[in-house]
Amino acid sequence: MNHPVQTVRVGLGDRAYPIEIAHGNLEQVAQSLGALRPISQAIVITDEVVAPLYADRVAKLLRQAGIQTTVLSVPAGEASKSIQSAEQLWQQILAAGADRKTVVVAVGGGVVGDLAGFVAATFARGIDLFQIPTTLLAQVDSSVGGKVGINLPDAKNMVGAFWQPAAVLIDTQVLATLPEREFQAGLAEVIKYGVILDAEFFAWLESQGAALLERHPAVLNHMVARCCRLKADVVEQDEREETGLRAVLNYGHTFCHAIEAATGYGQFLHGEAVAIGMLCASRLAERLGRIDASLTQRQHALLTAVGLPTQVPDVDHRRLVDLMAHDKKVEHGRLRFVLPSRLGHVELVGGVAEADVLAALGEGTT
Ligand code: NAD
Ligand code: GLY
Repeated sequence: MNHPVQTVRVGLGDRAYPIEIAHGNLEQVAQSLGALRPISQAIVITDEVVAPLYADRVAKLLRQAGIQTTVLSVPAGEASKSIQSAEQLWQQILAAGADRKTVVVAVGGGVVGDLAGFVAATFARGIDLFQIPTTLLAQVDSSVGGKVGINLPDAKNMVGAFWQPAAVLIDTQVLATLPEREFQAGLAEVIKYGVILDAEFFAWLESQGAALLERHPAVLNHMVARCCRLKADVVEQDEREETGLRAVLNYGHTFCHAIEAATGYGQFLHGEAVAIGMLCASRLAERLGRIDASLTQRQHALLTAVGLPTQVPDVDHRRLVDLMAHDKKVEHGRLRFVLPSRLGHVELVGGVAEADVLAALGEGTT
């Protein structure tokens, strides 16, 4: 391992935990797990793509350290975040002889992390969860903060829990095998952190531009560590999304969710729809006189530099607004949006007129 380990601590009292970030630290998985407490049994949950790439290696290292280890693999893809997958995993964990001291080790992207986390939160009323995220999105977002869950057939992430991991191990070297499009989609969430919380970080990302796509270890480590720190700061203050602060992480997501739903969840990866959604939200903020056009232009330039889409797709805008009315941030029937007031700062804004939303969508199609 050529790059030092950076540790981000999520300060949540007796549920505080470390996020260890380095390049090549997967080899230290047994030491990291052992540092928590003596462990005798681990259940590694992964998907069929990540199993041969990394999860089988993790299992081997754990066994070498004397930990009885079982690997359970689900098909790759969003469809695995289902009650059927969860039930199968509960049964398999039981059959493996697990008890309340057994640890679930999630090795994979956000699908694996959310599903394995949900299974850990519910098996035997909750057992320890150790996250090893392997996509950029999972490293900067889903593995941190404790939201775990599965989908209902017509409602994403509708069943779940807050179940903080006992620790997160991030090896940025695993991103080398991530398909380019998945990596770009993760960068949308990275850019989002700059817009919502950290103008200096946004400027650093701008200074890297397309070089972000080269995945240099030092760049990856800095980027991931900064995003984890920013997310940890939010989660520490509003763990259960009660004060509205955690909602800032959903910048661009009201538009994004509507675009994903209107296009049948097939046309865009989540991060791609986030990119388009951030620009819609930024144009909406412009229309409401909260920012000037230069902030939208800077986001547009950076998102374009890393190859992300920026145009609203050719779907009925009225339908998009109707879909937004079902968004979790709707309160008493009024549309609410996370909107920037300057670079590095956003606010939850209520009572937005539909005409302004339609206009922000319209300007994104030309
Ligand atoms: P994903 O888990 O489906 O992974 C994308 C693809 O990459 C999969 O095919 C996977 O097998 C493959 N893959 C993973 N790591 C790889 C690697 N290192 N090399 C090669 N291939 C690899 O998708 P995702 O974008 O990581 O996660 C999306 C999910 O995350 C969604 O279900 C979303 O709801 C959830 N999410 C949760 C939170 C949260 O706070 N819990 C936050 C954001 C997103
Ligand atoms: N990804 C949004 C959250 O963790 O709250």
